[in-house]
Amino acid sequence: MGVLTNRIALACTTIFLVLTQWSSSWPVNDPTLGFLELPLNTSNLDIQRPYDLALSERYSFIEGVHKLWVYFTDKPHSPDSRTHARTEIRIRGYDYSSGVWQFEGYGYVPSGTANVTIMQVFGASPHATTLMLIVGSNGTLTYYRTAVLDPYIYDRWFRVNVIHDVYASHLKVYIDGVLKFEAPGRGGTFHYFKCGVYSQPDGSYYMESRWKGIKVLKKCD
Ligand SMILES: *[C@@H]1O[C@H](CO)[C@@H](O)[C@H](O)[C@H]1NC(C)=O
Ligand SMILES: *[C@@H]1O[C@H](CO)[C@@H](O)[C@H](O)[C@H]1NC(C)=O
Ligand SMILES: *[C@@H]1O[C@H](CO)[C@@H](O)[C@H](O)[C@H]1NC(C)=O
Repeated sequence: MGVLTNRIALACTTIFLVLTQWSSSWPVNDPTLGFLELPLNTSNLDIQRPYDLALSERYSFIEGVHKLWVYFTDKPHSPDSRTHARTEIRIRGYDYSSGVWQFEGYGYVPSGTANVTIMQVFGASPHATTLMLIVGSNGTLTYYRTAVLDPYIYDRWFRVNVIHDVYASHLKVYIDGVLKFEAPGRGGTFHYFKCGVYSQPDGSYYMESRWKGIKVLKKCD
């Protein structure tokens, strides 16, 4: 951990120097600016799926694209869970309880998939989650089922950046690099990121989302 921290500090200093020198030509609205990408490999991607099925029945990874799907009638991810069906990537190795963290990924949701959570910041109190991005009827992307972040998200790749400032208890959601929504935190002592498909009570029969370029980043101190 000490080695990683030192590497982060060194990389952050380098980023700062580069920025100071080139700030005039840097894309100033890039939400990842000032953040450091952390190493991520397959051991960091824990894929939750209906407990009675093989991974290949609900997940594929082809040419850099993670495809996750689930049916409304599928079983939950563990025999003792009473939640709805899900096939989700749960990021491992970067559970956090302080600092400023960011998830980045390119998502794709085919039309027909409805009433399903496609991305989560897990961990809150008394609720289970701090943030959910949900695709509702007609392809609307919402924060939980309240604010509309994009009126029609179907059948195209979109970039998602979610920044969680634990100190400030504040979240920011960017779609395609544009700040779409800010939300307060919801308590909790630890958090992690998830993406995929997690059915809501009124989920469509078939649900799918695809993800590529998944990154976990942490703000330079
Ligand atoms: C994957 O990352 C973990 C820690 O993040 C590291 O311990 C492991 O050696 C890495 N595995 C590979 C195959 O690079
Ligand atoms: C979805 O679109 C249909 C047809 O335009 C409309 O009748 C329906 O009310 C919409 N549903 C929602 C939940 O917005
Ligand atoms: C999604 O939920 C809405 C509201 O509960 C419902 O009207 C709609 O039929 C659902 N859509 C699908 C495709 O199941």
